[in-house]
Amino acid sequence: MFIINSLILSLLFVNKMQLVQCFKSTVSNPNIVIIIVDDLRHLHKKNVNLPNIRKMAVKGISFKNSIAQQALCAPNRNSMLTGRRPDSIRLYDFYNYWRDDVGNFTTLPQLFKENGYNTISVGKIFHPGASSNYTDDYPYSWSLLPYHPPSEIFKDSAVCQDNITKQLHRNLICPVKVNEQPDKSLPDLQTLAYAIKMLKANKNKPFLLAVGFHKPHIPLKFPNHYLDRIPLENVKPPNYPYKPKNMPLVAWHPWRDVRKRDDIKRLNISYPMGIMPPKWTLKIRQNYYAATAYIDDLIGRLMRYVNKSNTVVVLTSDHGWSLGENGLWAKYSNFDVAVNVPLIFIVPGVSPKIISTPVELIDIFPTLTEIAGITGIPKCRNTEDKTKTCFDGKSLVPLMKGEKHETFAISQYPRPSIHPRSNSDKPRLKDIKIMGYSIRTKRYRYTEWISFNNTLFTRNWNKLYGVELYDHLINPDESINLFLEPTYQHVKKKLSKLLKEQIELI
Ligand SMILES: *[C@@H]1O[C@H](CO)[C@@H](O)[C@H](O)[C@H]1NC(C)=O
Ligand SMILES: *[C@@H]1O[C@H](CO)[C@@H](O)[C@H](O)[C@H]1NC(C)=O
Ligand SMILES: *[C@@H]1O[C@H](CO)[C@@H](O)[C@H](O)[C@H]1NC(C)=O
Ligand SMILES: *[C@@H]1O[C@H](CO)[C@@H](O)[C@H](O)[C@H]1NC(C)=O
Ligand SMILES: *[C@@H]1O[C@H](CO)[C@@H](O)[C@H](O)[C@H]1NC(C)=O
Ligand SMILES: *[C@@H]1O[C@H](CO)[C@@H](O)[C@H](O)[C@H]1NC(C)=O
Repeated sequence: MFIINSLILSLLFVNKMQLVQCFKSTVSNPNIVIIIVDDLRHLHKKNVNLPNIRKMAVKGISFKNSIAQQALCAPNRNSMLTGRRPDSIRLYDFYNYWRDDVGNFTTLPQLFKENGYNTISVGKIFHPGASSNYTDDYPYSWSLLPYHPPSEIFKDSAVCQDNITKQLHRNLICPVKVNEQPDKSLPDLQTLAYAIKMLKANKNKPFLLAVGFHKPHIPLKFPNHYLDRIPLENVKPPNYPYKPKNMPLVAWHPWRDVRKRDDIKRLNISYPMGIMPPKWTLKIRQNYYAATAYIDDLIGRLMRYVNKSNTVVVLTSDHGWSLGENGLWAKYSNFDVAVNVPLIFIVPGVSPKIISTPVELIDIFPTLTEIAGITGIPKCRNTEDKTKTCFDGKSLVPLMKGEKHETFAISQYPRPSIHPRSNSDKPRLKDIKIMGYSIRTKRYRYTEWISFNNTLFTRNWNKLYGVELYDHLINPDESINLFLEPTYQHVKKKLSKLLKEQIELI
């Protein structure tokens, strides 16, 4: 017995050593650069010219189906940075701080800080405000006071030249001349300059530098010459710009933040189900792509200062953004366009790869710790697990090494009511009555909108408000809800079981 055990043990050991050797990046204590772009959806299939992001995707390990936990900034960022799902940090809006309200959970930067790293936050990493205690979780997560670009105070100012009124407005579409801006700069330009300064300054101790760009978050404000890269005549409309026929109403939201910008308000789009006029759909898409081209440029400039031989780089976003698909705009849903984001890792000594297995943003934390050789952190047992450091997600290193894993990704979105109303896009916890849980496999997206108790944080799977099943093989636009199709009933049953098992962690 003993001999067999030790044989197995030594085999396991050798095996593990080999895996570590064949994967572990060529440097120990690699520096880490994490780039988080705000509201950047996955643009893999689009003919948008993003040369720098593309270059990173070609050199690195690129995930095609990387899924955000919830398509809203604060919950998703806290989830990604603690490695726990929104249910585990009980954050679905902007108004609680996990350390004081749920548990004193370790964050990704904090763990690196505790392991000898200098950890630095530049721009938008944590969502500012109550959900990071008005401190971006400093000093727990960061070695230095987090940096915010000074021109951020003008982020919502009336600075957009309006072609119709010839006045300055709070528009959605807002190409600008930088030297005419109040600070003669823009927040992301200042963020870039500070991030480069940090890369130059940190040469001795290993560092983790997190750089958060604000665009293409609305308003779509960017140096106007980027519009030249995206001629309007090349911009295509969404394949399906209407509410899907069998879509349960609970899946819809009125994209209030887009509607309330001055230029969109003037269009008098009927509330809450009105559709954007086609001409404006194209204009917004053009300007979103131009704002993305601007950020792509800044990422390229940042990457020139990154030492590729000792630095692991991660590029991602907090969630996606609907650009008129299914009649929707902005985030606030479980549709693929709202939750699928770019996720690229560049690891010194590790070969490029494209991976289409669905993964989640909570997987970034365990992946980076494995790459950096920080070991011994357990998986959380359930959403109630108050262990200081544990992971709801999993390391992506096995996938990066080419091991086959049939995994899937979970996301969720809360609603206050079945029928769309003004706060359906951003309900506060006190108003949440329904939770839409969604599972993405390689082929399908399946969603159940169920009753949710916002004081006990319990779910009632028997009280259903809507079911969605989309087959990406035949309908990547998610515009045909197949949940009633007889031929899909076996798939529906299987996915429903899998979804419940994952959420309840049975
Ligand atoms: C929470 O964790 C931090 C970092 O480990 C520690 O400094 C702090 O004392 C802890 N707070 C509580 C209330 O346990
Ligand atoms: C959060 O901020 C409040 C008010 O400043 C402070 O009392 C509290 O200790 C902070 N929480 C943590 C965990 O530092
Ligand atoms: C405003 O008009 C100018 C000149 O006609 C044009 O170059 C620019 O693209 C227009 N801006 C918008 C937001 O339509
Ligand atoms: C929107 O409504 C206002 C007030 O009723 C009207 O003056 C304006 O012409 C309308 N605009 C459009 C684009 O229909
Ligand atoms: C980049 O990192 C390598 C490996 O640590 C080091 O030898 C080299 O000097 C660094 N290059 C620069 C320009 O700092
Ligand atoms: C949540 O559960 C508590 C205790 O059973 C109950 O008092 C409360 O009304 C429930 N809330 C909702 C929104 O159902």
